Amino acid sequence: MRDASSPPTKVLMVEDNPGDARLVQVLLAEVGGFDIAWKQDMREAGDWLADNSPDAVLLDLSLPDSHGVATIDAMRRIGPDLPVIVFTGLSDEAVGMAAVKRGCQDYLVKGQGDGQLIARTIAYAVERKSIERERAQSAERMKRVLLQTVKAVSLTLEMRDPYTAGHQRRVAQLATAIGERLGFDPDRLEGLHTGALIHDLGKINVPSDFLSRPGKLSDAAFGVIKSHPDVGAEIVDGIDFPWPVSTMIRQHHERLDGSGYPDGLRGDAIILEARILAVADVVEAISSHRPYRPSLGLDAALKEIQSKSGSHYDPAVVEACLGVIHDNGNAVFRDDHDLPLVT
Ligand SMILES: [Fe+2]
Repeated sequence: MRDASSPPTKVLMVEDNPGDARLVQVLLAEVGGFDIAWKQDMREAGDWLADNSPDAVLLDLSLPDSHGVATIDAMRRIGPDLPVIVFTGLSDEAVGMAAVKRGCQDYLVKGQGDGQLIARTIAYAVERKSIERERAQSAERMKRVLLQTVKAVSLTLEMRDPYTAGHQRRVAQLATAIGERLGFDPDRLEGLHTGALIHDLGKINVPSDFLSRPGKLSDAAFGVIKSHPDVGAEIVDGIDFPWPVSTMIRQHHERLDGSGYPDGLRGDAIILEARILAVADVVEAISSHRPYRPSLGLDAALKEIQSKSGSHYDPAVVEACLGVIHDNGNAVFRDDHDLPLVT
């Protein structure tokens, strides 16, 4: 099955039992095509991996300096992208399954099977890992394309309404910093960032002079503007985002006491992402320039959210926003696509 001209498969074997290690070496030598480095504990393995990159790792889980699944985690730290096959004893095959669930590519039961079986297991593990890598890369690419598409949509709206150019991006920066402070995990942060980037998408349906007109708007004009959360939510409703983007958009003008729009929702009926967007939106709007007025400054923005904390805005979100602004000042709005707080 092996092409004699192909280079040997480099295997790192981490095994503290010399008898077990020798047996594997002998069995694989009979099959041929393997170059095995044998290390007896994780420290030795770590030192060796600093200068070498094997094709696969054979890993005993009970080592002098590591035991059980902790050994898998330790191997992940020192060789994050390596195919790993664990050795298990006859009586603990369940450990092998647990190892596979934890990201190992396969397991071998000590004392069972011959060199051919070990060789085949290594070859499959290498192949499986390479497929996993390709899948991860393709998922990563899809994610990037999704983000670029969302940014393009965001930019489309802002090109039409230059007075609020950058608004959604700046809101996204602030909202993400608030979410981070509230302990959101990276995936939830990404969802928040995505929703924030297009939270005003529905304004595409609002005549642009309504958006940039100085002075007071007529009730009719204001009514049209107030439809934008609904329109935006409707536009993205058919997109199968892995986050509640449509709800974020629909609820970003809702207020805790029910005084917001479009549904007059109260308290927890408004999702946390939308409560964050509400705060980030108003802080960005007040502190940036508008066609009909100069910037009122960050202080005015912070006063606004503090005075309405608990009535309009979620107090925990207000608190987090104050912390973010205290630590970063205006820099939190940095208008830089590729330096997001989420990566
Ligand atoms: Fe809005």
